[in-house]
Amino acid sequence: MPIDWILADLDFQGWSQFSSKDCSIDKVMGQLGFIIMENDVLIERNSPALVTSAEGLPPHTDHHLSHYILWHCLVPDSQGGYSIMVDGLRIFRSMPSNIQELLRSIHLKEHSVFKDDVGYHPLIYETPIGDRIYYSVLFEPTAFWLAGERLTKEQKEAFDTFNEAVRVAKTMRIKLKPGECLVVDNRRILHGRSPLQDNSNRLLKRYWIGKEELEKSVEQRV
Ligand SMILES: [Fe+2]
Repeated sequence: MPIDWILADLDFQGWSQFSSKDCSIDKVMGQLGFIIMENDVLIERNSPALVTSAEGLPPHTDHHLSHYILWHCLVPDSQGGYSIMVDGLRIFRSMPSNIQELLRSIHLKEHSVFKDDVGYHPLIYETPIGDRIYYSVLFEPTAFWLAGERLTKEQKEAFDTFNEAVRVAKTMRIKLKPGECLVVDNRRILHGRSPLQDNSNRLLKRYWIGKEELEKSVEQRV
């Protein structure tokens, strides 16, 4: 698969699936930017953290400085572990303009990963390439993810409306095979995962790709 097809997919639908045999992962990442974080995604037995448990994960975005996320499948789950995708910006744009304006005023929590992180980020924000989304909502209650500000009744209703629209949205489901990759535009597409087998040995490499190399926050350096 030529790299131009992958870039065209990303532009058109916000994600692309390809085999590492057909196109070099390094070449794709080099075209998209810089690796700002690299992780193994796997189950940790008895883990209290949702992301390393076997539970399903609802649609969300990762850190806003990760403009793209690329997963490279090394070992798939025997039954579950489908990647789930929803176009979050499309849902936002489908909302009435008064709700859109209210959503722009809402800030959500964000883990401090890089040096200048402040711990929260706007749900919807303008960039030179148009509106982008940051949606860290990973579990109920959704209000947990609000960045400590008191919402007006109207803001709360807009947030509830948006959360419900995400919950009922039609999703794309993909099961990666060994050697296959999925790359998503993290500021447009929400991603999640269906539950894994309890004893799953699923292993994905995950790369966050940003526009520049970044210094990690103090907590992340130790
Ligand atoms: Fe994620």
